[in-house]
Amino acid sequence: MIRAVLRMGDPRLWRQAKAVEHFDRPELHALIADLEETMHHLDGAGLAAPQIGVDLRLVIFGVERNPRYPDAEPVPRTVLINPVLTPLSTEIEEGWEGCLSVPGLRGRVPRWSRLHYAGVDAFGRPLERTVSGFHARVVQHECDHLDGILYPMRIRDFSRFGFVEELFPDGDAGVVD
Ligand code: NI
Repeated sequence: MIRAVLRMGDPRLWRQAKAVEHFDRPELHALIADLEETMHHLDGAGLAAPQIGVDLRLVIFGVERNPRYPDAEPVPRTVLINPVLTPLSTEIEEGWEGCLSVPGLRGRVPRWSRLHYAGVDAFGRPLERTVSGFHARVVQHECDHLDGILYPMRIRDFSRFGFVEELFPDGDAGVVD
């Protein structure tokens, strides 16, 4: 079922989400199916459970080769629950991001260039990866939602934050979840 995505200002987006404790349950699979359907409907690169008002530490993401993200390497379709992110260097890179909870806007957001992430999937099986670049950016954006952080809260240069049509008159750029 396609669910309504909460928008910035809704207090449910500011919560510290709770750990998932039970796996391979019908309600958990149903939640993931709803997230996937909603993400694909809105052509997003990811979606976090809090964005549909569900207070759990669960994100999904994945990007196939997409003309919308010409510079982005594909990111495998992933369900990541109770994630732990560990940066692997102090290197930071800035890139354009958007968010389905902040529609119509884009901003330059600093993120760790390289990180390790670990968590479990819908069946409680361990999942871990070392990633960089676009993949690392998507994971950081999604997992921020679990701590009540939306990307505008990380912007350092507000001259690089604005409406899509003004920033990119020749076409959109950036990751949108
Ligand atoms: Ni987002």
